[in-house]
Amino acid sequence: MPETDPFVVTPYEVKGRIDYDRLRELFGTQAIAPELLDRIRALAGGELSPLLARGIYYSHRDLGPLLEGFAAGRPFFLYSGRGPSGPLHTSHLVSFELCRWLQAKFGVPMYVQITDDEKFWARSGLSREETARWGLENLYDILALGFDPKRTHVFFDSRSIAALYPLAIRAARRITYSSVKAVFGFEPSTNIGLVFYTALQTVPAFWPSWSEGRSIPCLIPCGIDQDPHFRLTRDIAEGMGYPKPALVHSRMVPGLLGEAAMSTTGSARDNALFLNDPPKEIDRKVRNAFTGGRATVEEQRRLGATPEICSVWALWRSRFAPTEEEFGRITADCRSGALLCGDCKSALLERVHGFLWRHAAARERAKTWAESAIVTEAPHPV
Ligand code: TRP
Repeated sequence: MPETDPFVVTPYEVKGRIDYDRLRELFGTQAIAPELLDRIRALAGGELSPLLARGIYYSHRDLGPLLEGFAAGRPFFLYSGRGPSGPLHTSHLVSFELCRWLQAKFGVPMYVQITDDEKFWARSGLSREETARWGLENLYDILALGFDPKRTHVFFDSRSIAALYPLAIRAARRITYSSVKAVFGFEPSTNIGLVFYTALQTVPAFWPSWSEGRSIPCLIPCGIDQDPHFRLTRDIAEGMGYPKPALVHSRMVPGLLGEAAMSTTGSARDNALFLNDPPKEIDRKVRNAFTGGRATVEEQRRLGATPEICSVWALWRSRFAPTEEEFGRITADCRSGALLCGDCKSALLERVHGFLWRHAAARERAKTWAESAIVTEAPHPV
């Protein structure tokens, strides 16, 4: 990275204060223009996901042609994934929440990849048993968001390898060591599992086309940090006879303590609300969260607070204010000084507890069909 970019964003490292517009330029992706949002809204029957309306998804590749195809009767499928390195926290839900919304509005299939192999290779701290166990736990949480059991399929890498491997063989032949080294910043000490791994993350983008023997477009909602994988996917797609996947990229949701992204390592447990946190932990973390408030109540009433730097506002924005009307009101009252941080936190906590309560029940229901969603067989012998 040049000296002018004091941040790093790759699938294996996110650090520094991210300048999102600059990152888009560095990656060479498109901004999501208002006309594109209008087109999604129209195709979705007049509604827009809050994640799109509020600019959490802010960048894309080839979304326009994908939507044009859909309007002309060519349905696409959705693909996203999770590297199971521990329990999920609320900002991990961003990509799956957009997928759920798109599946509900567009009636399209969803493919989830759980990369228990990747997280074993990428985080030496975790045993195989741990990444496999978190893979299953995370999968229940993801499916519980409300995916349609009839249209949702899962690649659980270590258990789906027979289904993935025929395409991985082909993909791996087209990806060189020099490109993965350049794209991911690998060192001579990087294990060879990770060097191969990107071939596996590519496969779901082609799998339905391969399986059905016809070209089916793919849309991948993901954090912008995952874009490097899919640059490689897009580079090899046409050579393999498949359409290049389209992408929509989200910003990283800031942590409760105010860092660039939520991290699951070490003391950073306080930086995020985990779906398996006990209610008292949730209370404590939100009460201690970094805000955009003023030093005193009097000052805040007089000058107002700054939502853009507030981690509590980021939670309202990404998940807990369901309507634009409510989100707009919270934002305006924060800025004007009408809403004090303590009251804002109490209101948010009520929402978070309500969500986690309903989520726990949905998770039990998801357990009943999770196993049957895992794809274990290849559609063709080779
Ligand atoms: N590599 C991703 C992670 O570490 C997991 C993943 C696999 C993924 N396939 C994906 C993420 C597709 C987004 C889209 O979490």
